[in-house]
Amino acid sequence: MTGDPALTLRTCGVMPAEGDEAMIEAPPTGPWSELRGTAAVQVEHVSRTFVTKRAVVQALADVSLHAAPGEIVTVVGSSGCGKTTLLELVCGLQRPDTGSVTSAPAALMPQRDLLLPWLSAIDNAGLALHARGVKRADARKQAAPWFERFGLDGFEQTRPAELSGGMRQRVSFLRSLLAGKPVLALDEPFAALDAITRVEMQGWLGRVLVTEPRTVVLVTHDVEEAVVLGDRVIVLSPRPGRTAAAVEVPHPRPRKRTDPEIVELRERVLSALGVTS
Ligand SMILES: Nc1ncnc2c1ncn2[C@@H]1O[C@H](COP(=O)(O)OP(=O)(O)OP(=O)(O)O)[C@@H](O)[C@H]1O
Ligand SMILES: [Mg+2]
Repeated sequence: MTGDPALTLRTCGVMPAEGDEAMIEAPPTGPWSELRGTAAVQVEHVSRTFVTKRAVVQALADVSLHAAPGEIVTVVGSSGCGKTTLLELVCGLQRPDTGSVTSAPAALMPQRDLLLPWLSAIDNAGLALHARGVKRADARKQAAPWFERFGLDGFEQTRPAELSGGMRQRVSFLRSLLAGKPVLALDEPFAALDAITRVEMQGWLGRVLVTEPRTVVLVTHDVEEAVVLGDRVIVLSPRPGRTAAAVEVPHPRPRKRTDPEIVELRERVLSALGVTS
């Protein structure tokens, strides 16, 4: 964890990011179902190459995805295939070399939680609000009711170092949620957790999004997580990441990972990744 306040704030979408002018207007609030059909996130034929003193790395080549308002799109692919780059493009933190990215305003929950070690859990959660000019006491008031809902009751004053991994992820998620953006870009939110906590957190996230709907682009290495949570799974090829498949998951939630349809879709995603079991 860097504890870099500027980076932390940029990921919350608080500070102006490169490409902000390319953002489309946030969809109006209201029942998300009415908005289905209009893309909140549209990535079309995007490529992105990094040129440094030491190397030229093509991270993404011809990646496309779309997410309608209220949809959860999950992205899977091997390490280094450009998943984080893709989320940063969606959030306007980078620009594509070719292709186009349009998105309603998006908050990033970064791969590393970037909680500031010197702030309490509640001040970390309310950081995006405070940075937007909300008084710290008011930011705390807005964040406070969420602590109970997120199973963090009693840990408001605790510093990040004294929280468990799952709790830190929930504070980090809460900060992204309180940023108040219609799109959440979640970068491997549960990767650092043990298997039991991960499954619990997946269920938890599914329930939170029922009451607090957002358009979500969620990156994961976990194919089961991608199928259990996503309306659509985007499979990226190894670097440079290309859209190898887009697998629709038309099953109602909550989903059981042992349901034959879910197991079958998991196999389809694995085979699109080139994994044979
Ligand atoms: N700012 C940067 N400068 C130079 N190269 C970069 C930069 N950001 C990413 N890359 C390179 O682009 C490629 C894709 O990186 P990215 O972080 O998007 O992959 P990823 O799919 O998120 O990987 P992981 O699953 O390990 O998190 C990598 O080879 C990485 O080294
Ligand atoms: Mg990454």
